[in-house]
Amino acid sequence: MSDQPLLRVNAVTKYYGGRIGCDEVTFSLWPGEVLAVVGESGSGKTTLLNCISTRLPPTSGTVEYRMRDGQMRDLYRMGEAERRLLMRTDWGFVHQNPADGLRMTVSAGANVGERLMAVGDRHYGKIRAAAGDWLGRVEIDVDRIDDQPRDFSGGMRQRLQIARNLVTGPRLVFMDEPTGGLDVSVQARLLDLVRSLVADLGLSAIVVTHDLAVARLLSHRMLVMKDGHVIEHGLTDRVLDDPQEPYTQLLVSSILQV
Ligand SMILES: Nc1ncnc2c1ncn2[C@@H]1O[C@H](COP(=O)(O)OP(=O)(O)OP(=O)(O)O)[C@@H](O)[C@H]1O
Ligand SMILES: [Mg+2]
Repeated sequence: MSDQPLLRVNAVTKYYGGRIGCDEVTFSLWPGEVLAVVGESGSGKTTLLNCISTRLPPTSGTVEYRMRDGQMRDLYRMGEAERRLLMRTDWGFVHQNPADGLRMTVSAGANVGERLMAVGDRHYGKIRAAAGDWLGRVEIDVDRIDDQPRDFSGGMRQRLQIARNLVTGPRLVFMDEPTGGLDVSVQARLLDLVRSLVADLGLSAIVVTHDLAVARLLSHRMLVMKDGHVIEHGLTDRVLDDPQEPYTQLLVSSILQV
């Protein structure tokens, strides 16, 4: 890990009219670190993730990102074109619903390959080979390369979405409930895969989840949100083994009872 954060989130606040989405959220993310954002439904997790990833302009606050040249840049002061390029190349975004992150009626190979084309790759053979390689890495049989994701199972779609996001070698990946709609057994396999890819590639990630088991397995550090506020923040093992806030204690004990 380096001595400079990759991302610096400062007092990010989002109001929807008079309703709080998230309030004064401040934290830094370090290179190679996986941060989980947990909390019950409506606590502001998705709002925060969208504000950070520039999909939803905050009402106030700043988000700074360390570019590949080492400079910290305020994301909301960047031009639209530069921000788009960053989103296509340096970042990935894994949606809860794969249909939001994939093109369902083009082939699996094209779903992965088009991200490479977006960063300037033009050689068809190389793009196809890279797509095939990534399908393999997410455990999709390469002979499915010409099939469309609408013919895939939920777990396969989610793995394809991950391949599409990682093929360009991003430094930061955002994930919103990446295992949300899946069966428990499929979830476990996907989590294992995500965990090993993140570790192998040295990725930084912010993972939103209401599932503390997901946070435990994937993250180094976590933020606990309630009603738009971060109420507890610390190393994942510490927060889960020794929660300080009554609300976190309740969250933790309710999973232990399951
Ligand atoms: N587009 C919107 N317009 C108005 N209010 C919204 C909008 N999106 C979210 N909110 C409100 O902001 C608050 C936080 O919602 P958010 O979707 O960020 O929660 P969440 O933690 O992601 O919940 P879930 O676990 O159900 O996905 C909630 O009170 C929600 O009703
Ligand atoms: Mg959400």
